[in-house]
Amino acid sequence: MTEPFPDELTDAPSVVVERFDRSLHDISHFSCGEPSLDAYIHRMLERDELDRTAVAYVLVRRTDAAPVRRVLGYFTLSSYSFSKRQARRRDRDRYLGAYDPVPAILIGRLALDTNYQGRGLGVELLVAALNEALAVSQQLGATAVVVHALHEHAATFYQHHGFTRFRDMLNHLYVPLETFVQGLRA
Ligand SMILES: CC(C)(COP(=O)(O)OP(=O)(O)OC[C@H]1O[C@@H](n2cnc3c(N)ncnc32)[C@H](O)[C@@H]1OP(=O)(O)O)[C@@H](O)C(=O)NCCC(=O)NCCS
Repeated sequence: MTEPFPDELTDAPSVVVERFDRSLHDISHFSCGEPSLDAYIHRMLERDELDRTAVAYVLVRRTDAAPVRRVLGYFTLSSYSFSKRQARRRDRDRYLGAYDPVPAILIGRLALDTNYQGRGLGVELLVAALNEALAVSQQLGATAVVVHALHEHAATFYQHHGFTRFRDMLNHLYVPLETFVQGLRA
């Protein structure tokens, strides 16, 4: 069972995203209410990192002075590609580049501890994931970010924040990195 967080945390804390490091980050209490995402961080993440199939980033409180900081949220990034015909025509022509399949970055998992949900931190986590993906795209070409939503509730969360559903897989969504960059400039 997840330990409650201290009462002083009733407001959204000041948070920061860091590359996951088991020696610096405490995941023992982490629970987001979605069993597969809890099982992933506790039991499967290490294997995926060793296999180089995913890398994880974690959300921690900036002010957490503990030697091993408690993880409030996490996401993973992996390389990915998809067929151009899965995307909307307006994006295919304007934002997804000249090649098919389209080079992309996958946010494989994204989850926030239940004690922190519903106060804007999920959006912070998503924006952090998009910023990391943007940084990766400076090293290895990618024109879009993809998410695999576990359920309709998650899909509407991503859609609400600018993702578009693939034409053939409605729980898989994408956003062109260029439209994310334009949003940052606006
Ligand atoms: C998905 C998750 C990260 C969202 O985090 P959250 O803290 O609940 O959401 P936030 O408080 O940051 O959301 C704020 C904004 O998103 C909107 N939003 C949240 N959930 C939404 C949903 N299901 N559909 C549409 N909009 C949603 C809010 O209305 C708000 O919008 P606004 O800024 O325009 O007012 C979190 O609920 C979670 O970890 N859930 C369990 C794991 C999971 O399902 N992950 C998705 C895996 S694919």
